[in-house]
Amino acid sequence: MLQRIRGTQDMVDMRAYAALIDAVKQHAATHALAEISTPILEPTELFKRSLGLFTDVVSKEMYTINTSHEQDSRSTEESICIRPEMTASTMRAYFNNNIERAPWRVWAHGPVFRHERPQKGRFRQFHQINFEMIGAAHISHDAEMIAMLDSFLRDRLKLNNFSISLNFLGSPIDREVYKTILRKFLDEQPHLPQKIRERQETNILRIFDLKDEECQKILANAPVLTDYLSETSEKEWQQVRALLDQLGVAYTINPRLVRGLDYYNKTVFEFAGAGLGAQNAIGGGGRYDYLSQTLGEEKIVPSIGAAFGIERLLLSLENNPEFVLPTPPPMTVIAPFAPEQLPVALTLATALRTHNICCEALLDGGSIKSMLRKANKYHATYVILIGEDEQKNGYVTLKHMAASTEEKVDMAQLINHMVMLVHEQKHHED
Ligand code: HAM
Repeated sequence: MLQRIRGTQDMVDMRAYAALIDAVKQHAATHALAEISTPILEPTELFKRSLGLFTDVVSKEMYTINTSHEQDSRSTEESICIRPEMTASTMRAYFNNNIERAPWRVWAHGPVFRHERPQKGRFRQFHQINFEMIGAAHISHDAEMIAMLDSFLRDRLKLNNFSISLNFLGSPIDREVYKTILRKFLDEQPHLPQKIRERQETNILRIFDLKDEECQKILANAPVLTDYLSETSEKEWQQVRALLDQLGVAYTINPRLVRGLDYYNKTVFEFAGAGLGAQNAIGGGGRYDYLSQTLGEEKIVPSIGAAFGIERLLLSLENNPEFVLPTPPPMTVIAPFAPEQLPVALTLATALRTHNICCEALLDGGSIKSMLRKANKYHATYVILIGEDEQKNGYVTLKHMAASTEEKVDMAQLINHMVMLVHEQKHHED
């Protein structure tokens, strides 16, 4: 058999994924966040402009398709890509759909693609839950967003083994001032590793993402941005922290947190999970006030957002006894003894399903013993046996699997009887 592409997954049990999305839906509803969906295919330019040419995502990890089409004897060339994230798409959608509401509070979930080296918790096709508030200028939205995410993990998913790192990247002017100071510091170092020298040329703030020991040793003494904020920025930075304190959200300040994408300013944050190994970032985000301009608009649309990685959230939830999957509805198996009973079995299955009763008819034959074995494997609560005698005399034999009892039920009464049983069973489980 052909194998799936490296870094992709077959999700053969979607129950936990579905429960996670249900939890987001409930959480989003209480936070007035509307669900949206944007295309997976986008113009390559969208991400080149927004994420930054020198970010890992754009320079190494994007799946790009260059297409050429013949139309009306003209050839059109297009560079499209499979989305590596959802924020730029959301901002594009805000303008393309002339959304006038601000803040536009939205969320989405779906696949995202990055050509990274696969490992535990790191995929080439992974899934994100993405939240954005587009047109949310006041800094208190930053605290609102972080508190909303914190409460999602804590209250909805019952996760408490995570931590939040927080930093403030100031305004573009703050960053220019700081970059000069940082450059000076680097110039004064007797020896600079090649990696730092390279980033110094392309995107100096991202030197803080370099994780190897040699770089970390130098960077530990480097000046930090939050020490060089303007008065206005300093005030906002204090406001975010004060609001988070007031809301009871625990966080750690990490003055070297820069995030891997270029569109951020002011507040940035990351959520880290415990016990996930090297890929412990379960989510991250921040403010991106200038993204609309980077994408070619005149207007500034100050915004804030974040995304969680679904695979990493599911890994965090794996050993969490408090995150319980909803119990499946009681299952009824219909077992016709011979091909002559197949039509009645199928008719009955259809009738039960229209009454919202989960059932499966065993249409592939077999002995009664093997059909009962199958029913056990499916965790059936009820089995309806239909043999020759049953068919001839218009009744079925209904087995109650847990109690190991059986009863004869008149065919004409069966649907009502089953509806009542399933209803009682559900009531009992609740
Ligand atoms: P990001 O930090 O690049 O941010 O990704 C968000 C989350 O996606 C990460 O924290 C991680 O859980 C997950 N993730 C990233 N790469 C992978 C991978 N290769 N395999 C599995 N999971 C992964 C963004 O994407 C921003 N758009 C977030 C944002 C929204 N900022 C503002 N609004």
